[in-house]
Amino acid sequence: MEIDKFIKKSNDMFFPYIEKYIRNKSVLDVGCGSGLSALFLFKQVPCKIALTDIEDLRDKRVRNLPFKLASKNKLSYENDSFDVLIIQMILHHLKIDPVTFLKEAYRVTKEYIILIEEVLTEGIDVKEAMRIDKEVNKKLHPGLSSPVQRFFSEEEVKQFIKKAGLQIKKEDIVLVKGYLSFKVFILTKRAQGN
Ligand SMILES: C[S@@+](CC[C@H](N)C(=O)[O-])C[C@H]1O[C@@H](n2cnc3c(N)ncnc32)[C@H](O)[C@@H]1O
Repeated sequence: MEIDKFIKKSNDMFFPYIEKYIRNKSVLDVGCGSGLSALFLFKQVPCKIALTDIEDLRDKRVRNLPFKLASKNKLSYENDSFDVLIIQMILHHLKIDPVTFLKEAYRVTKEYIILIEEVLTEGIDVKEAMRIDKEVNKKLHPGLSSPVQRFFSEEEVKQFIKKAGLQIKKEDIVLVKGYLSFKVFILTKRAQGN
């Protein structure tokens, strides 16, 4: 299936950077969309996974995984509910302040937040990037009511992280030719060594 292939390819890009942080952990995928990315991750590495989003766009294959609806400012979980939160390709879809969103993630994670985000790089045609993102989302998450709002630079994302009180433990960049680059941040609540 074309969609599965696309998601698996995207997961493969990030997997080496995130695998050790999710192995045998409880993981909440925030803004899960179809939930297929989480499903394929869960098949690759042992972890206990749950899903949340502001709308229910779940594929039928993930309906047996725990899921709770969120409101745009608030996750439906107690403090420190999960070892790890994954926030993948969400910031540029937010209709709220990214700092408010990240503070809420801070509240719910015990240990790590894995933040994967498309960031602006020099010389990128932003209009074209938005067009591509819309096309891709139409296929991956049909019915999505929060289309891309705006893309951020790496520096802007780092400012959001800092203002939310989070620390960057590790960061990696996956460069994509002629398109936005993908940034993978491993965030913690307190400063730690690598
Ligand atoms: C491009 S999709 C990404 C889906 C999935 N993370 C992935 O990478 O395949 C963006 C998702 O963010 C969700 N979203 C937007 N605002 C949100 C918010 N304030 N809290 C949680 N999820 C949100 C949307 O409903 C949508 O499912």
